[in-house]
Amino acid sequence: MITCSAPGKVYLFGEHAVVYGEPAICCAVDIRTRINVAPADSIIISSSLGTTGIDFEVHPYVSAVVERFQNMSSLEGVSISIESEIPVGSGLGSSAAVTIATIKALDSLLGIGLELDDIARMGHEIEQRIQGAASQTDTYVCTMGGVVMIPQRKVLDLIDCSIVVGNTNIFSSTKELVANVAELNEKFPDVVGPVLSSIGKMSVTGEELVNAKDYVSIGKLMNINQGLLDAIGVGCSELSSFTYAARDSGAYGAKITGAGGGGCMVAIAPHELVGGVAAAIASAGGEVVVTKATDIGVRVESL
Ligand code: MEV
Repeated sequence: MITCSAPGKVYLFGEHAVVYGEPAICCAVDIRTRINVAPADSIIISSSLGTTGIDFEVHPYVSAVVERFQNMSSLEGVSISIESEIPVGSGLGSSAAVTIATIKALDSLLGIGLELDDIARMGHEIEQRIQGAASQTDTYVCTMGGVVMIPQRKVLDLIDCSIVVGNTNIFSSTKELVANVAELNEKFPDVVGPVLSSIGKMSVTGEELVNAKDYVSIGKLMNINQGLLDAIGVGCSELSSFTYAARDSGAYGAKITGAGGGGCMVAIAPHELVGGVAAAIASAGGEVVVTKATDIGVRVESL
């Protein structure tokens, strides 16, 4: 059996604006999806959602990866099991992680030898096939690990403060939220356009701050980014109350991560205050994950 894993991710800056070509800064986090593969007579995919063959309803991303490998190799049967620490549909990159880890696992099983850039590209094509539209952000960061500026694909220094995620457990559709922003942008281009480009400028400024490890300033910019995400209609009252709870208990800064409308927020905090920040988000009703940045992207865990 071969086991491969890939990390989740949070956005420090730039979700939604990245869809319009603006830069974003994303950070791989130390919560992972693991994929085990072994030779089998037929296609068997199992997860907490059940056991299926190729099935685009239950296991869309893994099914698409298997089809892709069937088109480029003689793959007929394989058993794939999925174990994930990343909450599904929460903006933490669960679909990218499952896609990228499955590509690496099948690549290792079949001895194809894909480069990391090929894996990231294939992962992005698969996300686009399943979701209709997706930026390259999630698949690239989860392949490479670390803190990455997109679309430049520039690797920045790893941040070494604490990262706290607050999950609203409210399902939100990335596709719908991206469409809502597009509608707003069409209706008020002179208003929404500058908001999106201002978010992009935060990533440009954020690049220097990340490399300087200036977490106080990064936090301030994250708070401004949150205000602009609210302005384009992707906030919700739960995300607002978690971000205020985090800031009031000593976080450097806090904002939505991902598409918004539900899903998760992220706070960065000094290590010594992380317990208080986590408790404040929890008492505001959030499901909390305390984590840290990781520079370990997709990897083979055992052969
Ligand atoms: C979703 O995690 C992030 C968005 O910017 C969409 C994308 O980048 O594909 C809203």
